[in-house]
Amino acid sequence: MNESDSEIVRAIMTAAGYSFVTEEAEADIVMLNTCSVRENAHRKVYGNIHEIRHRREGKPVLIGVLGCMATGLRKELLENKSLSLDFVVGPDSYKRLPEILRSVQEEHLQGFDVTLSEFETYSDVYPSRKEGVNAWVSVMRGCNNFCSFCIVPFTRGRERSRPVVNIVDEVKRLADEGFKQVTLLGQNVNSYRHDNHDFAVLLDEVSKVSGIRRIRFTSPHPKDFPENLIQMIAQNPKVCKQVHLPLQAGNDRVLAEMNRNYTGEEFIDLAARLRRAHPGLCLSTDIIIGFPTESDTDFEDTVRVVKEVQFDSAFIFKYSVRPNTQAARDMKDDVSEEKKTGRIIRLNMIQTDISLERNKLQVGQIQEIMIEQTERVKGGAAYGRNDANKIVALPHGEFILGQFLNVCIIRATPHQLKGECTATANL
Ligand code: 5AD
Ligand code: SF4
Repeated sequence: MNESDSEIVRAIMTAAGYSFVTEEAEADIVMLNTCSVRENAHRKVYGNIHEIRHRREGKPVLIGVLGCMATGLRKELLENKSLSLDFVVGPDSYKRLPEILRSVQEEHLQGFDVTLSEFETYSDVYPSRKEGVNAWVSVMRGCNNFCSFCIVPFTRGRERSRPVVNIVDEVKRLADEGFKQVTLLGQNVNSYRHDNHDFAVLLDEVSKVSGIRRIRFTSPHPKDFPENLIQMIAQNPKVCKQVHLPLQAGNDRVLAEMNRNYTGEEFIDLAARLRRAHPGLCLSTDIIIGFPTESDTDFEDTVRVVKEVQFDSAFIFKYSVRPNTQAARDMKDDVSEEKKTGRIIRLNMIQTDISLERNKLQVGQIQEIMIEQTERVKGGAAYGRNDANKIVALPHGEFILGQFLNVCIIRATPHQLKGECTATANL
């Protein structure tokens, strides 16, 4: 989402007459687009700002923070003397950036705007994208779910969706520019709703754009999977057979404390319904371990659900306290660091075995992949991705970015597949 937001910022700044440089050392203005979702993201940003100040010692440079940290930490960021930031601008205020920068430059005051909007979707800004094969398309912003651990509803505000026609127009333009794949983005992408159109309708309309061959989306919430959406994913040939379905935890009491609105069994049932609708469907997930009050036996329920669902891959995070959230207010971060570490190692080992087994099932298959990396870099191979978003490494050959070709899967590791080109190029 931040990459996509940076493309929006780039478009707004370009329209205002600014240009972008590739080396930070050449920049008069440096903007850091930040994430707040987990604690360590913050630390990196503070480190980055200090490094830039140090490198640019004595030379004029304006440094500003954009994104979620701006909303959540406005006061701390503006008042921190060692950072000496020039501007702080939140995710709904990017259209004001040129005006804020002018006042910073002319009046030498700190500039800020961290107002959250109920309406801003940037639907009138055509993002300035880098060349590539995938285009991010933000279709909705914000989140109304208030999971008790999550800072996003506070930093990005309430849900709002763009009109279907406006999104389809953008996708047509992207197809004309040569993009083959779009990834529809939203904090809670499947709660997309505009007028009477839901997310299934949006997928259907986007799939009618000729030139676009693959549609992906992230991140959905398990609570918003009506049957028509499951069928749209399963049956529309352009919608990739891959769903990122965040589990977060497997124990019902912990899930209730997290305010997730489903039980472990309901999650298992949803995963089964998705895989029944399309047997080859790949599922990935996010899991938090060490949420307050999570006992050893509660954690075993997460292990049980993970084993039952057989995710293709999982991102597993240690719980970290986020300011303003319900969990930060009402619960103590009472799972020791040692326990969190033990649980994350164990779960990662279990998931690695499952990922390998899932990947091995694909060996021997002929799959269509789209080339995303053409050169062998630092001992790595050229690679593409299959429909299910798995990386397929290719040992040799001449490839073109965005090319579709059929490969035979010859080997599997937990994190990628190895492919061999077959005779049939699929242009
Ligand atoms: N601590 C740890 N992980 C978190 N996530 C969100 N908030 C927290 C937190 N406070 C994880 C969730 C989410 C992913 C984007 O980040 O798993 O799905
Ligand atoms: Fe955060 Fe929950 Fe919203 Fe996802 S659905 S952004 S985890 S509050």
